[in-house]
Amino acid sequence: MQALGIDIGGSGIKGAPVNLQTGELLADRVRIKTPKGAKPEPIAEVVAEIVRSFKWNGRIGVGFPAPIKNGVAMMAANVSQKWVGTNANELFSSATGCPCKTGNDADVAGMAEMAFGAGKGQQGTVVMLTLGTGIGSAIYYNGHLVPNTEFGHLQMDGMDAEHRASDAARQREEMSWKKYAKRLNKYLNEMEKLFWPDLFIIGGGISKQHEKFLPLLALQTRVVPAQFQNEAGIVGAALFSQSD
Ligand code: BGC
Repeated sequence: MQALGIDIGGSGIKGAPVNLQTGELLADRVRIKTPKGAKPEPIAEVVAEIVRSFKWNGRIGVGFPAPIKNGVAMMAANVSQKWVGTNANELFSSATGCPCKTGNDADVAGMAEMAFGAGKGQQGTVVMLTLGTGIGSAIYYNGHLVPNTEFGHLQMDGMDAEHRASDAARQREEMSWKKYAKRLNKYLNEMEKLFWPDLFIIGGGISKQHEKFLPLLALQTRVVPAQFQNEAGIVGAALFSQSD
């Protein structure tokens, strides 16, 4: 069985067909830059373009950077405010002509890691954090998701943690890996005090460079990079297309 997974991010929109039994991508992913302003219609057009590029006709799962309840975006931090109250399932389904299911990007990325990657078989509490334009969070307990956690918006140094410890913050402030690791450690330490997790999984584009900063962290909890690295979002979105 296969489904098309689409990951919508602050800088790019990526998609590929995925084998749902193994989590493998069945073709090279297609990536298109997120349209400026990240408004609903232009994003839906890009989603439709990705669908056409694979001549896809079937189920589609979409990971979106906002809390999503029954297909509706509840808040917008790194995309247009026009998303708030928009039913993403309806918008993407009508733009593509295929049944689309939308979930929070970090929640679905976590789904891929729990099924096939760094969290496979892990009991207890797993906290997955995606470090990109923002910080996405997913919490799994004994393999079950608590959806729509928004721990990128935890307060740190008087502002949202994602403005201090995301990959975008690292690039914007031109932080050295040492400085960034210290910043991230402070954030993870807060998370650790609140959740006492058994495992942290670090995903997002930055996870490709995990060797540069994960060894510099000093935490009680084991920290591992996402096995699917930046593709967890695509694989997880495809898996999410099948959920009830
Ligand atoms: C959003 C989250 C999202 C995260 C990563 C945050 O700004 O509020 O919903 O998961 O960015 O994209």
